[in-house]
Amino acid sequence: MIRIKDLRMYFGRHKVLDGINLEIGRGETVVVLGRSGVGKSVLLKCIVGLLKPTSGEVWVEDVRVDTASWDVLSRLRKKFGYVFQGAALFDWMTVLENVMLPLREMGVEYEEAKRRAIQSLNHVGLKGSYGKYPSELSGGMRKRVGIARAIVVNPAYLFYDEPTSGLDPQTSRMIYDLMQTLDEELDATTVIISHDVVLAKRFGRRVVYLDDGRIEYDGPFEHAHRSPKFMEFLGEHVHLL
Ligand SMILES: Nc1ncnc2c1ncn2[C@@H]1O[C@H](COP(=O)(O)OP(=O)(O)OP(=O)(O)O)[C@@H](O)[C@H]1O
Ligand SMILES: [Mg+2]
Repeated sequence: MIRIKDLRMYFGRHKVLDGINLEIGRGETVVVLGRSGVGKSVLLKCIVGLLKPTSGEVWVEDVRVDTASWDVLSRLRKKFGYVFQGAALFDWMTVLENVMLPLREMGVEYEEAKRRAIQSLNHVGLKGSYGKYPSELSGGMRKRVGIARAIVVNPAYLFYDEPTSGLDPQTSRMIYDLMQTLDEELDATTVIISHDVVLAKRFGRRVVYLDDGRIEYDGPFEHAHRSPKFMEFLGEHVHLL
């Protein structure tokens, strides 16, 4: 479970997050929505300990992430799968090597890492692309490699940062389907950061809408009308409600 208490994140005088309180239960899936630049990625980075907040507390299970030592944090991170905004693959490594990497870093021996990476790639529909380099792949395929790399560790926590940005609607649907399958299979506590309204509807049981550094709405997608600001964000997409 994830618990965030009164989280503030300022960059100099620029207030990005200004008092976030959020609890995400074990196995729960939450979509965090908000305009570009509102601080969605910053929030995610605070949760996984890549950024230290200005103040407040971030807890994952019984670990206080914002003050944890490097040792404690690296032990916790073994439970994390992180799909980065823009895939963040290593261009000089093959698809297979990219997916093996987190396992190798955990000390899993080569053949076992390879076996699990292949399994993970097959799972996201990339059988036959093992030896390719990221530059040879389409945007949608790169996203799927990013997902394969995140799930290869069998994570208890799965974090997606903009899993469908830059993809056409059809490819996006393929990614939603994949994410949905994983959501059912892995039983991981999942945080999806996005500004994709269609995705929010698909994973709409709990949507958190960020605005002006705060949580403006927290609830099911179909109750968005309770927040005028969220409605404004939805704009032409309100018909999805
Ligand atoms: N390391 C940093 N140093 C200074 N400012 C930063 C840093 N990281 C993020 N910011 C600022 O924090 C704000 C929020 O950034 P963030 O990347 O979280 O936005 P976002 O909601 O993820 O946007 P997008 O939807 O475009 O990905 C932006 O104004 C950004 O410039
Ligand atoms: Mg972002």
